[in-house]
Amino acid sequence: MRQLIAGNWKMNGLLDEASAIVGPLRRGADGLGCDLLVCPPATMVMTVAHILVGSAVAVGGQDCHARPNGAHTGDVSARMLRDAGASWVILGHSERRADHGESDAAVRAKAAAAVAAGLTPIVCVGETEAERAAGRETAVVGAQLAGSLPEGFAGVVAYEPVWAIGTGRTATEADVAAMHAFIRDELVRLLGAAGAGVRILYGGSVKPSNAAALLAVPEVGGALVGGASLNAADFLAIAQAAR
Ligand code: G3P
Repeated sequence: MRQLIAGNWKMNGLLDEASAIVGPLRRGADGLGCDLLVCPPATMVMTVAHILVGSAVAVGGQDCHARPNGAHTGDVSARMLRDAGASWVILGHSERRADHGESDAAVRAKAAAAVAAGLTPIVCVGETEAERAAGRETAVVGAQLAGSLPEGFAGVVAYEPVWAIGTGRTATEADVAAMHAFIRDELVRLLGAAGAGVRILYGGSVKPSNAAALLAVPEVGGALVGGASLNAADFLAIAQAAR
């Protein structure tokens, strides 16, 4: 299966900055051996999707509400993202779990809504530094998977150790290999044979200098890139390291 290189812009980027990133991506995406995705802030999903129409780069949101519409001020539904040109959505990112108190059950409901609206969800899991120090990383990630994935989950999982996000610290290749093998086993246990085909992305300070090593680890199905996705050359360099 082709690896997926996904850019999570988080709460960064105004319109002029977006075109400066997306233009080179559109040109650089041809002939890549991986799938490419950008997830701008909700305000720019439609514009970015317009710029990328007909290109090899897909567009996603960074969150969606579990309901299709209604009295939920400030929220965006999966159907709205789809309507704006997105085909993917990131869900349960640790920043949303921390900033907005998103529970596994909430992530699960959002993932089901995303699939119903025709979006492919990327469900994020990952332990904190304290949880890893206490030797609880697989227990934490196992519980997040069991609680966050809806029945018959058809999407992607991203393993993002919280302590590696935006810190410049990456998990060692051995740690990534061990956790991705654990996630694969859990996916097969939870989803049956379909669990064998779910891509498992690694996220946390992925950059051009470490991408090739991380992307070569067994069971790494791609990368979810934060900071480095805000620079087109860096993001493309990471994509070029993918298979
Ligand atoms: O979702 C991507 C992410 O949380 C990693 O961010 O900046 O460490 O690549 P960064």
